[in-house]
Amino acid sequence: MNSFILKGNICYSISKTKLKTLSGYVVCKDGKCAGVFEKFPGKYKDLELRDLKDKLIIPGMVDLHIHAPQYAFRGMGMDYELIEWLNTQTFPEEAKYKDADYAKKAYTIFSDNMKNSATTRACIFATRHRNATEILMDLMEETGLVTYVGKINMDRSAPDELVEESADMSAFNTFGWINDIAGKYKRTKPILTPRFIPSCTDDLMDQLREIQRAYSLPVQSHLSENKGEIEWVRELRPDSAFYGDSYDKHDLFGDENLDLEKVNTVMAHCVWSSDEEVNLMRENGVFIAHCPASNINLTSGIAPVRKYLDLDMKIGLGSDVAGGQTESIFRAITDAIGASKMYLRYVDENAKAVTFEEAFYMATKGGGEFFGKVGSFEEGYEFDALVLDDSILAHPLELNLRQRLERSIYLSLDLCGGIKEKYIQGNKII
Ligand code: GUN
Ligand code: FE
Repeated sequence: MNSFILKGNICYSISKTKLKTLSGYVVCKDGKCAGVFEKFPGKYKDLELRDLKDKLIIPGMVDLHIHAPQYAFRGMGMDYELIEWLNTQTFPEEAKYKDADYAKKAYTIFSDNMKNSATTRACIFATRHRNATEILMDLMEETGLVTYVGKINMDRSAPDELVEESADMSAFNTFGWINDIAGKYKRTKPILTPRFIPSCTDDLMDQLREIQRAYSLPVQSHLSENKGEIEWVRELRPDSAFYGDSYDKHDLFGDENLDLEKVNTVMAHCVWSSDEEVNLMRENGVFIAHCPASNINLTSGIAPVRKYLDLDMKIGLGSDVAGGQTESIFRAITDAIGASKMYLRYVDENAKAVTFEEAFYMATKGGGEFFGKVGSFEEGYEFDALVLDDSILAHPLELNLRQRLERSIYLSLDLCGGIKEKYIQGNKII
């Protein structure tokens, strides 16, 4: 099952700074990479050989942060900052997911587009509605993507039609949701999703700690995105030393205190994280989802990604649709590089810009670590791959593979019909 050889032009990250490119063969054995070879690997001669000629073969893209119910209004209502945007654009749209028919319609568009995108793995926020979240999980399972999907918890600071009635009801519905879907999917897993500190009372956070422990769930949320938001958290949680501490007080900020099997936590943004917050994230192994388009659109700021990379933190990219306007992680790569250039020009002249190698690494192997051995073609990695045809981007000269890859990403080959095949865990889904 799921064993074959692809022949073509192979590009993948070995480390943050090392991109390997070669014309050769990549072997998939039982859904996992068995190696990359320049010459035909004779010991696999019995496997089917798929010759992709001059096409590019790269690892699938990982989106560490996307909101499925915001997909319908992506690219609209972009002239706001975070809190006003939540109140005027996001919450009214998310309230519609109480209606299962609307959820089915909107989530079908989302899941179809995710299937055809460059993304192979994603951490997805749903809404606070249990039914709609299960509809989304059913649809995502069919796409073949491997995803974490979270029913949002929110028991304060939103309009009546969206906020959950109480901490108890929010926790009760979360239990109900997890029990409903237990054992139902192969590729679609639950993730605990307190929306952010302003939406969750202390009582709810305490109950989520118990649920997290009972089911060993990974956790996703937002952190230090916007200055007004951080001030609001300071008022709501005067007992906390910094924003991240208000998750940590409920043991929802990485796994250091838990004698459970290891679970991952991912926090989106970290634009304004203090040194103390950064230190705790490093100690606890918290992942950062860097979402450059969202940070620009919502005027949040520019995350100090150079610092996070140099500190060897766990970091990947997120589209943050609809804060970000597109699910394209190719676009997130170019935005991450561009944002880092503005950081060095306007914030810290000593900060080096993020390189293409580093941004490609974050989009693949960096974010992929949240899912295990994912995001590279090194031996033992799960076989997630995209086959790209860049011949539609004509060029007068012969380019090397590094140039062809960079250009394919900068010129959004994923959005103009350039993805010819897509594999996840060795399954061909396009
Ligand atoms: N903080 C709390 N909710 C949200 C959301 O939906 N999007 C973003 N970007 N930040 C948030
Ligand atoms: Fe978000």
